[in-house]
Order: sequence, then structure tokens, then C-alpha cells
Amino acid sequence: MLVLLKPNYDELSAEAARIVAHAVRSNPLITMGLATGSTTIGMYAELARLHREEALDFSNVTTFNLDEYLGLSPEHPQSFHFFMRENFFSKINADLEKIHIPDGKIPGNYEDYCASYEQAIRQAGGIDLQILGIGRNGHIGFNEPASSLGSRTRLKALTRETIEDNRKFFAPGEEVPQCAITMGIGTILEARKILILARGPAKAQAVAQAIEGPLTASLTASALQLHPEVTFVLDEAAASQLKQQDYYRRVMHLTARLTPERLS
Ligand code: GLP
Repeated sequence: MLVLLKPNYDELSAEAARIVAHAVRSNPLITMGLATGSTTIGMYAELARLHREEALDFSNVTTFNLDEYLGLSPEHPQSFHFFMRENFFSKINADLEKIHIPDGKIPGNYEDYCASYEQAIRQAGGIDLQILGIGRNGHIGFNEPASSLGSRTRLKALTRETIEDNRKFFAPGEEVPQCAITMGIGTILEARKILILARGPAKAQAVAQAIEGPLTASLTASALQLHPEVTFVLDEAAASQLKQQDYYRRVMHLTARLTPERLS
């Protein structure tokens, strides 16, 4: 795992956008897995700027979002459809036919729907670059603690902690969804490359456990230890509980000197 330490959120966002932009320029037909959450907003803004000012072309890019709340329509301001439109898709030249986000309004038959989402990923040739955030409890996507490390896209009940973390985004008194459709850990681990972002002190413990703790379904981001090409991009606060910070800094400098392609 490559751990990139950045002094602040702006630099974290710029670094993540640089990696994504390089991937898109190297393969304009890339298939990307996309994440929501406040951490990703700066990266999406920078990618939109690169589209506007440096002609970064998304017209042939295929995307699959990680997750969506069950029960929210694409027009709901807290839906991940809405988030993606507001923060990214409306600001780039995305081909709407190539965008996939789980449907929060499916009336039932979840298994069939989730199997069709997996099938669509396979038909697109699999995910080349998966972007992730991390929850306070170490979840990726909505893979809450005790998710199988082999799990696929499915309906998932959210923990109280996740529901409370997300309450701030909803109107006072509005019900926060209890469930979501999410890609599984098995789905995520099949991506060819993974980029995971974390910022702020609230994430420090989850980040330390994901990188330096034991591999466990109790903290699903630790499953990334199984993947051969994972890059963490962290700000100082999110990195603050890592025991090996000095080592990661040395690796960063040596990688830049010896194998710079790993940083792109
Ligand atoms: C939600 C999403 C995750 C995301 C997490 C972090 O739980 N399902 O994919 O990583 O939020 O959100 P934030 O970046 O706002 O802390």
C-alpha cells in the first residue's frame, strides 16, 4: 500500500485529482468506480477545473458509483445521484449513458437488481480505478462492520453510527434512510487500482486500523490490505494515529525518485 501524506485538504484533493486525471488521459475509455461523501468534493471540483481549463475529456469514461440510499429518488438532495450531479457530472462532459449509480427506488427484488449491477460492471470490463472514502467506523462504500470480505453488491442495513453521522445532511425531523444498496468488499477488491481518501481527525482511528491494524470484517477498509495496488491519500489529521508515519514519508520520497510511475 502506498500512503501519501498531504499537509492539508487542498493538497489532498489536488493529489487525488492529479492521479485520476492521469488515469483518464492514459486511458480515455477507462471505467471508474466513484464515491460520494464530503471528502471527495475537493477532488471532483479540481477535476471539473481540469476539464474546463485543460480540456480533460470524460466523454468516453464509464462510471459506477459505489452506493445509494434505499428509498431516495435521484431528485432527493441527499441522494448520491443528486450529489454526483451537483458536484461532478453537471460540470464535466460526462456521457450520461455511461454513468451508473444504484437505484435507491427499486421496489423490491433486491437480489436481482444487485446482480444486474454486478453484471453491468463485468460487461464494462471491470473497474480500472476505484475511488473510495472511509467512514468513521472504517466502512468503505456502505460495507458496515461484519460485512463479508467476499461480499458483492447488495442491500445493506446501516449502523446507528452511520445513520447519526449522516443525519446532519438531512432536514431537521426528516427520516434518515436505514438501508443502502452498496457494492461489496469483493466487488471493490476486483478493481485494478484503488484510491482512498481521508481527511480530518474523526477518521484518524479508522485510517490507522485500516492500514496498520489486523485484517478484519469488523473494519472493512482493512480488506484493502489484500489488494496489490492501493493508494491512500491522507491529510495530516487523518494520518495522525499512524505509527509508521516516518516510514511512509521515506517511501514517498524514494518512490518519487525510483519508481515515479507508482505515484501516477
Ligand atoms: C458515506 C459513503 C462512503 C463515504 C463516507 C465518508 O458513508 N457511503 O462511501 O466514504 O460517507 O463520508 P465523508 O467523506 O463525508 O466523511
